[in-house]
Amino acid sequence: MEQRKSLLYGALGLALLFGAIWLFAHPSVPVDAELPTSQAAIDRGAYLVIAGGCISCHRGEEEAETLSGGLGLETDFGTFYAPNITPDIESGIGKWDAQDFLLALQHGRTPSGNYYYPVFPYRAYAGLTQQDVLDIGAYLMSLEPVSYQAPAAQTPFWLARWTVVGWKLLADFSQPAAEHFDDGLLARGAYLARNLGHCSECHTPRNGLGIPDSSREYAGAELGEETIEAIDAEALQAWTTNNFDLFLLIGLKPDGEFAGGDMNEVIEHNTSKLTDEDRDALAAYFTRHNQ
Ligand code: HEC
Ligand code: HEC
Repeated sequence: MEQRKSLLYGALGLALLFGAIWLFAHPSVPVDAELPTSQAAIDRGAYLVIAGGCISCHRGEEEAETLSGGLGLETDFGTFYAPNITPDIESGIGKWDAQDFLLALQHGRTPSGNYYYPVFPYRAYAGLTQQDVLDIGAYLMSLEPVSYQAPAAQTPFWLARWTVVGWKLLADFSQPAAEHFDDGLLARGAYLARNLGHCSECHTPRNGLGIPDSSREYAGAELGEETIEAIDAEALQAWTTNNFDLFLLIGLKPDGEFAGGDMNEVIEHNTSKLTDEDRDALAAYFTRHNQ
């Protein structure tokens, strides 16, 4: 009897150990991936960085000209400063290779295997194609290095980096169901909305742990003082695809009002600079229920 019990405990212990190893293990990224250096890849990367809204966070406190970081992002869990992502060797990402970019953007892991705080919207970027991540890397590495060290995150004492492992596990359980679109335009729109444009990061409500409630995707949220409108099918009943397109271009809503707050930034730095095809794709995706 005793022996059985210790066997059982042994097995349980092993299961826990393997679970822990599995959680902490380095995610596998292709070792043979390399950062492209062609001008075409760099140009593609530049566009993807616009579509990904990277400048909204990775700019300085004052200007939005370089990706040298420093802007303080206030959340319910502390203040986070987006780091310098220009290729400065000391203060930026000058030593990064293809694997570092894949780990960071697709897995939220630092080059040494630690965890990034999810204020860096890597759960959205996780769905980026490998090609897109590598082209983004190629573009960032082509930038003029800026020497600037962003401040460290100010978090409550219990919020160490490694605790993000638990958060990620819980967040995995509430991933939105993969939606498949046969229509190429809608598929592109979904990729731009869910992945590159990370619209959900602001527009989907979160639970007390800050995990987006994917069963209410785009149902609106509170972000600090700001109320973020719903942009789900119900909320957009009166919007045509053209209305949505115009909103993404100049911020004008069908009721004649203009967008305010953080959405202005999204429009200025991101959606207004998309190609017409990509803006059409986003508009078609969000208003598909009205067609
Ligand atoms: C909502 C704000 C936000 C957006 C948008 C954003 N980031 Fe970040 N990013 C952050 C924060 C905050 C961190 C630091 C997280 C931490 O300290 O754990 C970060 C970290 C990073 C890092 C790691 C840098 C390092 O030195 O370790 C890279 C690379 C990065 N972001 C690239 C990007 C790219 C590329 C985009 C656009 C596709 C992007 N980010 C969009 C907020 C953002
Ligand atoms: C950084 C947070 C943030 C992100 C990211 C964001 N939004 Fe917004 N959005 C807002 C806020 C805040 C408002 C409310 C603006 C206002 O008060 O006028 C808003 C408003 C809107 C509205 C107007 C809704 C209405 O009924 O008035 C639309 C449409 C919209 N966003 C679409 C998008 C799309 C599409 C994306 C992704 C490409 C996106 N948003 C990404 C913060 C964000």
